[in-house]
Amino acid sequence: MNTQSGGTLSGQTVLVTGAARRLGRAIAERLHQEGANLAIHYRRSGQEAQALAAQMNAVRPRSAEAFACDLRELALLPGLIAQTLAAFGRLDVLVNNASSFYPTPVGEITPEQFEDLIGTNLRAPLFLAQAAAHELRLRRGLILNLIDIHGFKPLKRHPVYSAAKAGLLMLTQALARELGPEVRVNGIAPGPILWPDGPMDRDLKARIVARTILKRVGSPDDVARAALFFVRDAPYVTGQVLPVDGGRTAGGL
Ligand SMILES: NC(=O)c1ccc[n+]([C@@H]2O[C@H](COP(=O)([O-])OP(=O)(O)OC[C@H]3O[C@@H](n4cnc5c(N)ncnc54)[C@H](OP(=O)(O)O)[C@@H]3O)[C@@H](O)[C@H]2O)c1
Repeated sequence: MNTQSGGTLSGQTVLVTGAARRLGRAIAERLHQEGANLAIHYRRSGQEAQALAAQMNAVRPRSAEAFACDLRELALLPGLIAQTLAAFGRLDVLVNNASSFYPTPVGEITPEQFEDLIGTNLRAPLFLAQAAAHELRLRRGLILNLIDIHGFKPLKRHPVYSAAKAGLLMLTQALARELGPEVRVNGIAPGPILWPDGPMDRDLKARIVARTILKRVGSPDDVARAALFFVRDAPYVTGQVLPVDGGRTAGGL
């Protein structure tokens, strides 16, 4: 366990799901920079996850460890919490970031897609929260859910993903009631931050940016800084969801 002091989160442990790449990585890096120990969850990105853990441990020995888990496997979820506790002795913050995302036009939706999108975006956050609840109560901890502005209003051709994120939005409020007063539960609803991996129509990107008040996409660190706000600077905030979207929702989604 890390024993060095210094950062404002020194001594605390954070588990970030899907932390090897993209937004999850940015959140993990920023919270680690603030002194937290990091449980880096991944599924396929093992190399990136191990490299990130090594990078963090080079800064502060034994401050990070990577754990693999397919979050659709319900029976494995308590084990991820247990591994974090075994490695660091405590858990203060659970960041439900991992997600699957792809279109599911009506008429072509398969049961497998439904299972996958609901499984990663809604079911896993709930069952991880349940597995971590006892420890988070002890630590007066936080659950932070990565939602999406399309949890407020649906994204065209993505009904299952949108419904999963809307469910996660409600779960954020419901868990805040269920786990309070000891545990705070909040969410971040990113707008256009990082385009999905793979090809994406340039005109569509331009149209999305045009409908964003700040006329640009955000950066992963914009989301990471919002995460730090909830972890460190928001002790009287629970059950809330903060859009980090350059004004996309305010401008009329
Ligand atoms: N990017 C954006 O602009 C944006 C916009 C709105 C909302 N969001 C939300 O913000 C969060 C982060 O966004 P992102 O774009 O960085 O996410 P992402 O790249 O689409 O996915 C993050 C990670 O989720 C993990 N994952 C997927 N399926 C999994 C499974 N079955 N079990 C375990 N892990 C699984 C993957 O880990 P491995 O790589 O290790 O397999 C992946 O790297 C997500 O919740 C997303 O919905 C993002």
